[in-house]
Amino acid sequence: MTLPLKKVLISDEIDQVCIDVLTKNGIEAVKNTKLSKEALLEEIKAYDGLIVRSATQVTAEVITAGSNLKVIGRAGTGVDNIDCKAAEAKGVLVRNTPTGNSISAAELTCTLLLSMSRNIANGTQTLREGRWERKNLMGNEVYGKTIGIIGLGRIGKEVATRMQAFGMKVRLCCCVDSKLTGSLLQTIGFDPVIPASVTAEFGVKSMSLEEMWPQVDYITVHTPLIPQTKNLINDDVFRKCKKGVRVINCARGGIIDEEALLRALDAGLCGGAALDVFCEEPPKASPLIKHPLVTSTPHLGASTVEAQTRVAEEIAQIFVDLSTGKS
Ligand code: NAD
Ligand code: MLT
Repeated sequence: MTLPLKKVLISDEIDQVCIDVLTKNGIEAVKNTKLSKEALLEEIKAYDGLIVRSATQVTAEVITAGSNLKVIGRAGTGVDNIDCKAAEAKGVLVRNTPTGNSISAAELTCTLLLSMSRNIANGTQTLREGRWERKNLMGNEVYGKTIGIIGLGRIGKEVATRMQAFGMKVRLCCCVDSKLTGSLLQTIGFDPVIPASVTAEFGVKSMSLEEMWPQVDYITVHTPLIPQTKNLINDDVFRKCKKGVRVINCARGGIIDEEALLRALDAGLCGGAALDVFCEEPPKASPLIKHPLVTSTPHLGASTVEAQTRVAEEIAQIFVDLSTGKS
């Protein structure tokens, strides 16, 4: 299939390499990140393609207004800000770059898990405020703890292997003492699609959620936000887990029920949360942000130089391949 793509609008902050690749291949690329909703509806008429990151809401209205629109590209994984049904109905292709930021998102997940365990954010805050609070900032090792990974796709798998490395490093230092194996950080997980034989290859013991809840010290979610995963971590789950279980969400806001999380933190059922994503972004007056047991970042999973260069280049190449019939 060849898509005649002459002119592409880039309406979010995307690395320059995107424009360079498109231009080099004869596709005119116009970057305009300042368009209001109304201006976008007017502007889109002149373009064959649209490339976005997260800020632009590609609604049915935008897709309908794009009378020449043939393809919408997302320089990232989730396509939550694109009305895919409306695009499909109008025969407009939707393409994403699902692999380009996986490593960055996995690295942030591990960073948040460790930061939460060692009170890095609270330590920084108290020092900034001129306080030296060593007693109140006692942490815990992740060594010997069990992490439950829900969703063992691209990011979940990378998190698993990285967190195992914390155990393996200790093991190597101790000259491979087999007695230590049982106390390494254990990775267990659940994914309805990825078979147990596959997860075993990257060291994850697959099990049902019900089996997993009472075993885990940490839960990290790496699924899409779909009806089956909305509020997956809820009041009932916190009751079934060990007291003080900690949760990490670097996937999508709403997979962990935010109200249930607040209740669990206040009741001591949850010992801490690390959140990169929120139901409402930016979160307006969310009590979670101010909670002393919450470490948070403003959706930074993909915000690395490497990931942004990769996704920008990948989405541009996808457009080039479509226009030359290679895709
Ligand atoms: P992926 O598609 O590779 O993996 C998702 C996995 O979830 C799949 O293996 C799927 O089978 C599994 N899954 C689906 N429903 C499930 C359920 N009910 N229970 C358990 N598992 C289920 O996706 P990915 O690239 O690993 O991305 C994971 C999430 O991270 C997505 O929500 C994505 O949007 C998000 N993400 C966030 C950032 C960020 O900046 N924070 C960056 C990249 C991706
Ligand atoms: C994604 O879906 O790729 C992430 O949420 C990161 C981003 O915002 O680009």
